[in-house]
Amino acid sequence: MSDTPKRILITSALPYINGVKHLGNLAGSMLPADIYARVQRLLGHEVLYICATDEHGTPAELAAAEAGLSVKVYCDRMYEAQCEAGAAFDLSYDWFGRSSGDATAALTQHFSSVLERNGLIEARTSKQVYSNADGRYLPDRYVEGTCPNCGFEKARGDQCDNCGKLLDPVDLIDPYSAVSGSRDVEIRETEHLYLKQSEMSGRLRDWVEGQTSWPPLATSIALKWLDEGLRDRSITRDLEWGIPVVDENGDPRPGFDGKVYYVWFDAPIAYIGATQDWASETSGDWGRWWRTDQGADDVEYVQFMGKDNVAFHTLSFPTTLMGSGEPWKLVDTLKAFNWVTWYGGKFSTSQKRGVFMDQAIDLAPSDAWRWHLMANAPEGSDAAFTWEEFQTSVNSDLANVLGNFVNRITKYAGSKFDGVVPEGGVSGGHEDWVIAEIGHRLPMMIAHFDAREFRKAFAEMRAIWAAGNEYLTRAAPWTHYKADPDQAAVGVRMGLNLAALFGVIAQPVIPRAASKILDALGVPDDRRRWDFDGWADALPAGHAVAAPDMLFAKIEDTDIAEWTERFEGGGE
Ligand code: MF3
Ligand code: ZN
Repeated sequence: MSDTPKRILITSALPYINGVKHLGNLAGSMLPADIYARVQRLLGHEVLYICATDEHGTPAELAAAEAGLSVKVYCDRMYEAQCEAGAAFDLSYDWFGRSSGDATAALTQHFSSVLERNGLIEARTSKQVYSNADGRYLPDRYVEGTCPNCGFEKARGDQCDNCGKLLDPVDLIDPYSAVSGSRDVEIRETEHLYLKQSEMSGRLRDWVEGQTSWPPLATSIALKWLDEGLRDRSITRDLEWGIPVVDENGDPRPGFDGKVYYVWFDAPIAYIGATQDWASETSGDWGRWWRTDQGADDVEYVQFMGKDNVAFHTLSFPTTLMGSGEPWKLVDTLKAFNWVTWYGGKFSTSQKRGVFMDQAIDLAPSDAWRWHLMANAPEGSDAAFTWEEFQTSVNSDLANVLGNFVNRITKYAGSKFDGVVPEGGVSGGHEDWVIAEIGHRLPMMIAHFDAREFRKAFAEMRAIWAAGNEYLTRAAPWTHYKADPDQAAVGVRMGLNLAALFGVIAQPVIPRAASKILDALGVPDDRRRWDFDGWADALPAGHAVAAPDMLFAKIEDTDIAEWTERFEGGGE
């Protein structure tokens, strides 16, 4: 169905290293990126899907300290845990790297030098909170105190969790150290590098306004920041853990001993760094994806992220890339999501509220989560997760609509037609109806996937499965078996081909069940691509088929009761 193959670069926001991610993180970046990548591969396009862990910054240091580990060891462990969680959910990264790798460090230092040469970075003296008791500066989350905006007493240095306002640590009233609790802190003057985003405002606005394929959520967030006026931001911190600040020759920079780049400066650069790591490991060509002078102008670059990440991807990272004056590939379109909520409240890693990827996979198979989360993707607004709706998705959409159909028709073919696609008979009105129905719905489904409209695409897929059920009800081959076996053969042949089609379209969404269906039906590899010409005759008469093992186990009310109690679902 695809015309000329495209080259599509896909990134999903880099999951922060401080713990296995919850279902909200999964649904807002990695899972949609995976499904989009799988769809585009099936359509015959060349896809490179890159992700990595985001490992720098104070949350990593604090989580490591809490775990009683060095930051390095902590990150190594959590990286493994996130790899495992990704594999358990069948996330089909072409590369899952780490922002702490050498390539990202070298690129970060490179961008910093070039931007400084171009007048977009400068060193400025700034005020920082210094703790006498701890003998160190307290950037970002290392300092807590009273929010100057709302009076909340446990506001963090970088942001108030109560009112959401972004803060500067020196703005806090009655600050104290989050490391030791000491209030023996003072304000000291020290040098930091500042990214002069304000000077880029005009270019950024032209670029944002020139975008035609961004969703309104992304454009409106970017323009809101531009309208408010971009502030120059400090891009270095007084921390041990991170990418060291060096001078243009790569030597230590006087006055910047003990300072590293701010995590939000290097994290997006890790998209490129991880691609370089992919290239070194696979003899791939990273420049073909990232440098417009090396072929990347043919690339369509799509980013997936939660809405809190939009400003960084539409303003600060583009400042880095454009400001370098070098031919870097910029994002073409980005898909931003609202939040998945836990019964309307916030998922919380620190308060362990909600379900985390490693727990989820012990409760139900990855296909169940993949289907439910994206059928209810938080696209237009936030979407509440509830156990009851999860149960409905699995039992009704997957088990009843898809599972029963495949089961019924393959079992019937086994018992009455020796497990082969029967021959004979002539198609009639019922077949014409279902072929027309699918001919109408398939292109719509593909168009929705192409537009990254997941709810609509999933609804269309469900409607296609439902049309199969409707067809079997109308054609009812079992009622004709005795009196008119040819008529029954037509129905079973069409039913089996519908089952094969359902398996083919389900692949990007529920890859495990889809493989089971396609394997049981003996669908050859070259018939598994999203090229639907002649789908109704894909399995010819005489082709052997079997019934797959159970596709979807139903979720019982007792499961829901148990999980609700265990996870305190809605119990707020
Ligand atoms: N780690 C960030 C988060 O969890 C996302 C970083 S996206 C990147 O919100 F592009 F900057 F890496
Ligand atoms: Zn506040």
